Amino acid sequence: MDIEPRLSEPIEVAAYYIVSEALTNAAKHAQASVAHVASVAHVEARTRDGGLHISVRDDGVGGADPRQGSGLIGLIDRVEAMGGTISLSSPTGQGTSLLVDLPIKGG
Ligand SMILES: Nc1ncnc2c1ncn2[C@@H]1O[C@H](COP(=O)(O)OP(=O)(O)OP(=O)(O)O)[C@@H](O)[C@H]1O
Ligand SMILES: [Mg+2]
Repeated sequence: MDIEPRLSEPIEVAAYYIVSEALTNAAKHAQASVAHVASVAHVEARTRDGGLHISVRDDGVGGADPRQGSGLIGLIDRVEAMGGTISLSSPTGQGTSLLVDLPIKGG
């Protein structure tokens, strides 16, 4: 984490929601087929260029697909409603990365 000072409550709440869903997905889905192999997730959050940048990456099985559930769709809707951007990269066998940029707007 590289964030100062505290951000506005709506941005902090959104960041919590995004990281919670992404880590829940990593725990539920990322290593489903390799249960005895250690899997790692990295979370980064930093403020830069008037935005909050969040990344959640895991080294699991990949293949995440927003059409297969409601959690990722919910993240996409929420981030876009706040004027932010979100990108998901999840090639099969190569882990999953979720990158989010949220505008801070002085908060
Ligand atoms: N980190 C991940 N690694 C591998 N597969 C993933 C990952 N995240 C999501 N997926 C796949 O993408 C699908 C959609 O994820 P999504 O979060 O939208 O739904 P969900 O987690 O199944 O259910 P929920 O609506 O409770 O979030 C999942 O069902 C899973 O197959
Ligand atoms: Mg989910």
